[in-house]
Amino acid sequence: MTAKGVTVVGHPLVAHKLTLMRDKTTSTKSFRELLREISHLLCYEATRDLELTEVTIETPLQSMRAPKLEGKKLVFAPILRAGMGLLEGMLDLVPSARVAHVGLYRDPATLRAVEYYFKAPEDIADRTVIVLDPMLATANSACAAIERLKQAGARRILFVCLLAAPEGVERIRAEHPDVPVYTAAIDERLNDHGYIVPGLGDAGDRMYGTK
Ligand code: PRP
Ligand code: URA
Repeated sequence: MTAKGVTVVGHPLVAHKLTLMRDKTTSTKSFRELLREISHLLCYEATRDLELTEVTIETPLQSMRAPKLEGKKLVFAPILRAGMGLLEGMLDLVPSARVAHVGLYRDPATLRAVEYYFKAPEDIADRTVIVLDPMLATANSACAAIERLKQAGARRILFVCLLAAPEGVERIRAEHPDVPVYTAAIDERLNDHGYIVPGLGDAGDRMYGTK
């Protein structure tokens, strides 16, 4: 059973594409393409509860009341670098969204998240923010990003990832119970180096071919 506030997107297309991404023989090009494709399906799920309002429009035949998204445009907040791999696909579905960039890297020795860049829309308090990162391992990066966005004024935040460790899910839900989590899968555990196993390796390196 999945914990409260955690949605595992179990769509067969997601499961199939994720298997291809896990395979170590998958090329950098295919890895990037698959991540973009999966991000469409994750975006579909994560935006399911967005509020609608009714407006009056004129079809070629008559006027009608029809639904439109309520409120200001969404903010996507990719955690650099690997979060950029989810951003493009999200923008395919929500092209007018704003973008907040959260630059964090995970110190390999301490596994702590170190901030090196942050830039968010000034009116972030009035917008729903969807944080993007393919990997939720210890959740140090996710929690640091969410704290930074809350400091900047964000009040309604969702977290979308591709792959999570049970430890990371538990931590983010404990520290930020107001932030729902969407993931394509929850794996077995973290290894001694803080990597998700079986996992898919280092998402940033696989996406950009840096190792
Ligand atoms: C990876 C990943 C997450 C983080 C997850 O980024 O993209 O941001 O690790 O680990 P955590 O949950 O234990 O914090 P990394 O720091 O390797 O940086 P990169 O995206 O620049 O490769
Ligand atoms: N970051 C990654 O890219 N992969 C992991 O398994 C853990 C953290």
